[in-house]
Amino acid sequence: MKGRFSLLAVKRKLKTKNLGLFFIFFACLLLSGLFLFLFYLLPGMGMGPEQPIAFSHRVHAGVKNIQCEFCHSYVSRSEHPGIPPVEKCLYCHNHIISNHPEIKKEHQYFNTKTSTPWVKVNYIPEHVFFIHQRHIKKQVECTQCHGEVAAMDRLKGTRFKMQFCIDCHKIKGANLDCWLGCHN
Ligand code: HEC
Ligand code: HEC
Ligand code: HEC
Ligand code: HEC
Repeated sequence: MKGRFSLLAVKRKLKTKNLGLFFIFFACLLLSGLFLFLFYLLPGMGMGPEQPIAFSHRVHAGVKNIQCEFCHSYVSRSEHPGIPPVEKCLYCHNHIISNHPEIKKEHQYFNTKTSTPWVKVNYIPEHVFFIHQRHIKKQVECTQCHGEVAAMDRLKGTRFKMQFCIDCHKIKGANLDCWLGCHN
């Protein structure tokens, strides 16, 4: 009897010890999961898609204060602002941090004559007629539609909705005759 009793006690002891180990194991798992989440996912949240070259508007338009029009040269002259070709990047980067791995990617696109496959982030429904030119000429700021681009690393973009256009057109007294003005 006595022997059996002590055996049970040992078993119980082992069980609680195992439980303790399991608890520590799961706590570790949970904590490392949380760590990975905070470390990798949180900084990327609220950011736009990853781009083929880690280009940052914050560095260029913000810190280095390069004008938007220097890169998006057509914004006040044509329908589309245009994304700068890699030649324009190399205009500076042949001299600035030319050995940076991201700049080496620029050379690769340049040497193989492929246009950089930038991921587009702004959308407007296809049947809507939008031209930058008219807006820029009337001193509508980039930030009114695109937000603080100069403070962003990766642009997130917007799917523009009609109400957004209408609201400002009302305030500014711009064309509200949608079928003539904005839809084609
Ligand atoms: C008018 C000059 C100029 C042009 C044009 C330019 N850059 Fe830069 N770029 C800079 C400067 C200045 C830095 C900061 C270098 C440093 O940190 O010492 C920089 C930094 C970078 C970096 C380093 C990453 C970082 O976050 O610090 C990358 C990548 C880069 N540029 C990519 C591009 C790409 C892609 C283009 C073309 C779309 C481009 N640049 C066009 C001047 C320019
Ligand atoms: C050094 C060149 C450079 C400068 C300066 C620059 N941009 Fe850009 N811009 C780019 C490149 C390259 C892309 C494409 C990659 C991306 O989306 O980050 C881009 C993309 C964009 C887009 C998103 C296009 C889309 O729909 O995919 C907007 C909006 C934009 N820029 C606005 C601005 C504004 C506003 C400024 C000034 C505050 C500015 N940019 C200054 C190079 C530049
Ligand atoms: C009245 C609102 C408005 C203003 C102001 C505005 N944009 Fe845009 N922008 C848009 C819309 C809407 C789109 C998406 C439709 C398109 O691609 O044409 C867009 C798209 C873009 C694109 C991507 C174009 C492409 O070819 O993929 C760039 C780059 C851009 N804007 C730069 C600028 C810059 C730089 C300024 C300031 C000088 C500016 N925008 C001012 C509304 C605006
Ligand atoms: C922040 C203010 C603002 C926003 C947002 C805005 N617009 Fe405008 N828009 C203007 C102003 C101001 C004019 C008048 C330009 C003029 O009188 O030449 C204008 C003119 C236009 C015109 C030319 C109209 C004509 O007289 O023929 C079109 C088309 C247009 N906008 C489309 C759009 C679309 C589409 C959107 C939404 C993606 C939009 N706008 C968003 C301020 C804005």
